[in-house]
Amino acid sequence: MNKVICLLLIIILPFGFLKAQDTVDQGTYHEKHRLQVHFSPKAHWMNDPNGMVYYEGVYHLFFQYYPGGTTWGPMHWGHATSTDLVHWQEQPIALYPDSLGYIFSGSAVWDKHNTSGFGLNGKGPLVAVFTHHNPNAEVERKNDWQYQSLAYSNDSGKTWIKYAGNPVLRKPNSTDFRDPKITWYEDGRKWIMTLAVKDHIEMYSSPDLKSWVYESEFGRDLGAHGGVWECPDLFPLEFEGKTIWVMIINLNPGAPNGGSGVQYFLGTFNGKAFVPLHKETRWLDYGPDNYAGVTWDNTGKRRVLIGWMSNWNYANVVPTVGWRSAMTLPRTLGLIRVGKDIYLTNNPVKEIKSIESRSVTINRITTNMALDMLPSLEKLSIPCKLEVELSRKDDFSFTFSNDQGEELLVGYERETKRYFIDRTRAGDNSFHSGFAKRFFAPDIAGDGATKLVLVMDKSSVELWSDNGLTALTAVYFPNAAYNHLTWRSRKSIARKISITDLNSIWERRDSR
Ligand code: FRU
Repeated sequence: MNKVICLLLIIILPFGFLKAQDTVDQGTYHEKHRLQVHFSPKAHWMNDPNGMVYYEGVYHLFFQYYPGGTTWGPMHWGHATSTDLVHWQEQPIALYPDSLGYIFSGSAVWDKHNTSGFGLNGKGPLVAVFTHHNPNAEVERKNDWQYQSLAYSNDSGKTWIKYAGNPVLRKPNSTDFRDPKITWYEDGRKWIMTLAVKDHIEMYSSPDLKSWVYESEFGRDLGAHGGVWECPDLFPLEFEGKTIWVMIINLNPGAPNGGSGVQYFLGTFNGKAFVPLHKETRWLDYGPDNYAGVTWDNTGKRRVLIGWMSNWNYANVVPTVGWRSAMTLPRTLGLIRVGKDIYLTNNPVKEIKSIESRSVTINRITTNMALDMLPSLEKLSIPCKLEVELSRKDDFSFTFSNDQGEELLVGYERETKRYFIDRTRAGDNSFHSGFAKRFFAPDIAGDGATKLVLVMDKSSVELWSDNGLTALTAVYFPNAAYNHLTWRSRKSIARKISITDLNSIWERRDSR
């Protein structure tokens, strides 16, 4: 062989090899409906996010996972990692079912001071606290079948050892007793566990994560109770120089738009009891597809929540093949004042900037307009992000549509003062009778100028308005990609609409 060619091959071959390895397997992450800017596992069933902890520069995301099929089954903890909350790398399964049962939802913390004694060489371990759900005990209607257990890792979350003393917390005659969320309460130098117990939350405390003492309960007579309370979270946020505690409570069914949803309370917490600042029920997201949302541990003052982008009403039957369900975009939580009241806000994490590409801005649009016909836009491509500045709130809508006549609407109704997402004719809705619907969210902020952010992915839409005061998340299943976008308005004036293409997160696979 010619020496020059030989040399070239030596230089090129390793890159070719790397490239082939780095590229996503043919087909995977390119399937019809596969989300391009949201995490979903390569294959099989996923539900709740679990064990989220930030450690040594890596965001860990565990999740309820059934590797044996695409419907709910014996639960494992799947695992994915990211250095930027945007690009995810799936890891080997972290926890398998065992003689105590399936591995249900829970959380993970960095036990910095090695209070548990599970650490090695003076280094604090990662500790996962989860619910063991014993299906045999459930069938036999034993005294209890959900108990709290521990596992720990001394290799940065790669491998996990279950604690020999499991379970660490059980309660006879309490059959809905699950989803422990742990936080370190610095003032009392102790761990706090928030636990969902059917129609209320119970709080326990511990010096070492192994022995737990009952502290108090919350919520029997407050909030929405159309179903079972699940997956709670409790954490502080700084606001106007004060600390406000946020209690997140997931509920299924009974959400404002049917099925599963996330409600929250703001209040105070003294290491023992949570006292709410308001009595009315509030929702973190009014859409049908944001459930089991909880936050990352160990992210300092910043709190980031991620939810499961589905609804128990139809999660098992949505028309995806080989995989089922994705997570929402991670969202930064904050507080905002509206009149005398304080509300929780959620907005997509700033890191999604890293996948933004071509952006087109259209100024001052009043009349109805097919935006995809504008020479500046050329073509609509999904995933994308829309940012809209409105000078006042009046009837308006965006219609995303395809050449098969399917359409998804996002807009505002002046008369009822509500935002909406309408997926009635958005695509396949044959799999569940209640799927084709228009979903509403109240306009908490009221009149005036506003800004909306919309993230459209292949089969999901997320809307944030008024700085994240109102959020609506919904999935939809079009039979062809949407390639048209129309703006319709009566009196609303869009001062500015920016449409930004988003790169697929699966094209770059160098995050840990
Ligand atoms: C919430 C939930 C949790 C439970 C898990 C089981 O979606 O029902 O309460 O731990 O899912 O997969």
